[in-house]
Amino acid sequence: MDKFTLEKNPFDALLSITEELNSVQEMDTLLNRIMDIAMKTLNAERGFMLLRNRDHSRGFEAAVARNIGEEAIASIKDLSTSVVNQVIESGEPVLTFDARTDERFSDARSVILQQIRSIACVPMSRTQEVVGAIYMDTRSNSEQFSEAGLLFLEAFARQSAIALDNIQTVAELKTENKRLKRQIDLSAVFPEIIGESRPIQEILEMIEQIADSSASVLIEGESGTGKELVARALHVRSRRADKLFIPVFCGGLNENLLESELFGHKKGAFTGASENKAGLFEEADGGTVFLDEIGDINANVQTKLLRVIQEGEVKRVGENVTRKVNVRVISATNKDLWEEVQKKNFREDLYYRLNVINVKMPPLRDRQDDVKLLANHFLERFARVNGKKVRGFSPGAIKAMLEYPWPGNIRELENAVERAIILAREPVISADLFSNLKKNRASDLVGRSLKDVEKSVITQTLEMTGNHRTRAAEVLGVSRRWLQYRIKEYGIDAE
Ligand SMILES: Nc1ncnc2c1ncn2[C@@H]1O[C@H](COP(=O)(O)OP(=O)(O)OP(=O)(O)O)[C@@H](O)[C@H]1O
Ligand SMILES: [Mg+2]
Repeated sequence: MDKFTLEKNPFDALLSITEELNSVQEMDTLLNRIMDIAMKTLNAERGFMLLRNRDHSRGFEAAVARNIGEEAIASIKDLSTSVVNQVIESGEPVLTFDARTDERFSDARSVILQQIRSIACVPMSRTQEVVGAIYMDTRSNSEQFSEAGLLFLEAFARQSAIALDNIQTVAELKTENKRLKRQIDLSAVFPEIIGESRPIQEILEMIEQIADSSASVLIEGESGTGKELVARALHVRSRRADKLFIPVFCGGLNENLLESELFGHKKGAFTGASENKAGLFEEADGGTVFLDEIGDINANVQTKLLRVIQEGEVKRVGENVTRKVNVRVISATNKDLWEEVQKKNFREDLYYRLNVINVKMPPLRDRQDDVKLLANHFLERFARVNGKKVRGFSPGAIKAMLEYPWPGNIRELENAVERAIILAREPVISADLFSNLKKNRASDLVGRSLKDVEKSVITQTLEMTGNHRTRAAEVLGVSRRWLQYRIKEYGIDAE
């Protein structure tokens, strides 16, 4: 025995073994180590370890074995006196030095057939519960098991059960920890959906109705109307809630990059593909992929997407094999996707597949009732976050909010309230804290140079989109390059 001499000092031996077992971090390594030590202790010829099945329903299964095949294990488990069952049921070890003369085995054909000489079977127990057993034997002409070895084995099996339990507990805690973290992430990015207006109430009802189905959903609506919020709500309320929700912004990436992001690639498929990589559809298996700005995907990605939805299959870039995935697709657009179909920019068959369920997000200007409600909701949130004692809005401030058309919808309202709270010096938000909104009115623009107007329109659009240049370009109806050029020219600070 490498680390200790059993005969000399069994206590030290057990101590150093226990320490070693507890430092192992991997289940397989631990099981093999336990089996090796047990075999060496008795100088056994054959052996196996049974462990209780994880789901508790199917009894015990062989976890590791030495010099013994599955059939032989089965026949030993069937011994008429059934050594193993006895050990598992009673929690007491069964030891015999010479099975051929042992009365307990007189009618056991297996002992004779397999010419077994010595048998040792010890339980592995945790508190009152037997979690497994180690069985070992020697045959015909080999040596008998030694008594010292057997005593040692019992103590060793108990320590092994503890080490095993620890490693299992750690693994379970890790899984649980991951799950909880994901839940926290979700609740952090999933604030309540606020709104009492008819259109929002209808959307909330629909979310409850369709959350359980795996049908594709297309969410249409202007920028900032809550499309992503609704997509997350659909996921969180679905049976897929404990799997991933992966949002993908399809507008910003170049075509090839988007394809490899979504579907993965094979090592060497293109310059820069230094590793095999799974795509987001594979990662989201069992969960939901949210395709934001779906109108921007090219023909090639459209074809591949159709395949995921129709066949549940993905093919990595540069690979010929297909892989199965089970993913719910929710997509969003602030373009008129049907118009893109008419213009032949978007496949009609894909359109129907994506649009099994359609959700239309109303612009904020069509539901004035919700403006006050949302404003108060954001006021409460940002007052808390910023540690400010702000109680409410002045009548003038409410009037200003109701009169303003909110082209950037809820996101713009959210940003405006946040700004007002940061600037507020009084417990009540006054109308002048919303004065920057008024600038958007045409009458306020007249008398200024076009350049100046352009600059302030760009600045405010960036504010409205939360500094998202691609979105801002879309809202302005210009290319991203044009916008970038102007930002530089006017020295608009992107932060
Ligand atoms: N009904 C609502 N109640 C509370 N907050 C909301 C509501 N709708 C939207 N919001 C908030 O408004 C902001 C914008 O929402 P979201 O990102 O979902 O919009 P979007 O339609 O995806 O916008 P874009 O088209 O610009 O991507 C988010 O901070 C979101 O939490
Ligand atoms: Mg969005």
